[in-house]
Amino acid sequence: MIAITGASGNLGKTTISFLLKKTDPSNIVAVVRDAAKIRDYADSGIQVRVADYKDPASLRKAFSQVSKVLQISTASYGEQAKREESNVVEAAKDAGVQYIVYTSTLHPGNDAHFLAARTCMNTENAIKASGMQYTIFRNSMYFETIPLFIGGALENGQVYYPGGNGKVSFAYRPDIAEALSNVLAGEDHQNAVYNITGSGAYSFGDIAGLMRSEKGMDASYTDIPNEAYREELVKYEVPSHEIDFYVSMADSIKAGEFAHVDDTLEKLLQRKPFPIQEYIKSI
Ligand SMILES: NC(=O)c1ccc[n+]([C@@H]2O[C@H](COP(=O)([O-])OP(=O)(O)OC[C@H]3O[C@@H](n4cnc5c(N)ncnc54)[C@H](OP(=O)(O)O)[C@@H]3O)[C@@H](O)[C@H]2O)c1
Repeated sequence: MIAITGASGNLGKTTISFLLKKTDPSNIVAVVRDAAKIRDYADSGIQVRVADYKDPASLRKAFSQVSKVLQISTASYGEQAKREESNVVEAAKDAGVQYIVYTSTLHPGNDAHFLAARTCMNTENAIKASGMQYTIFRNSMYFETIPLFIGGALENGQVYYPGGNGKVSFAYRPDIAEALSNVLAGEDHQNAVYNITGSGAYSFGDIAGLMRSEKGMDASYTDIPNEAYREELVKYEVPSHEIDFYVSMADSIKAGEFAHVDDTLEKLLQRKPFPIQEYIKSI
């Protein structure tokens, strides 16, 4: 059986939709914190098991009779995130799981600007040390984060973000889900580390350019200082540890940690990934 953690989230749910086209529903186990969040799959024939990354015993139970796990990275921060993700790896190993697919980030590392990249490095190392077979998806940013980055620019065309001229190789989240389903249903991806990116890399100046060319908007980009960004997030009462996280993301982009472009996603999909121009048109 194949278990998908984070199955109530966007990537997990979409991966299950693709997997349902490739394998019998009785082979699929959706692991969720809250079963109500996956009610739309109630009649699909998949199993739903409740577990929390914070609770190793619940994870071990959820992975019973499971041979493959898709481990979707946590939404927690810092040391808590590292603990939660290590819990998933240890529980999978204890439960006899043979193969784990993990959603990492494009540039993991203990010295990376992006704070989540440190969690991902820790988890990748734990997976490799576990003796289980693995496939690591080092995902770039989703297209779907663009509206979050540019905020009010969809109305007024003014993109304010501390991204410098850093480029991001944005990828379409459903494409990543489809590629994950191909790997989970396939055989030939053991102990591979894949850089998962779109077909090009775009700075926020380029995103403003796409808003002009694809949406006919009078759009422009202003690179703002980190302090101005922090002040804006404080105004929206974002907790300080989340502000540190978002600023680390901007620093990471500025430093080029999301700029790498790779054709692995295209190879896994056996077609061109969804173009960013179409996505920008649609938002
Ligand atoms: N590459 C990118 O641009 C990007 C952007 C955002 C996030 N991410 C990362 O990629 C992951 C998947 O993306 P997504 O779009 O699917 O995110 P999402 O929609 O926020 O889904 C996150 C999933 O993780 C589950 N989860 C979080 N903490 C958990 C815990 N303690 N125990 C069990 N489950 C837990 C959530 O469960 P609930 O439904 O119960 O909350 C949800 O199912 C995210 O969790 C995050 O680590 C990547």
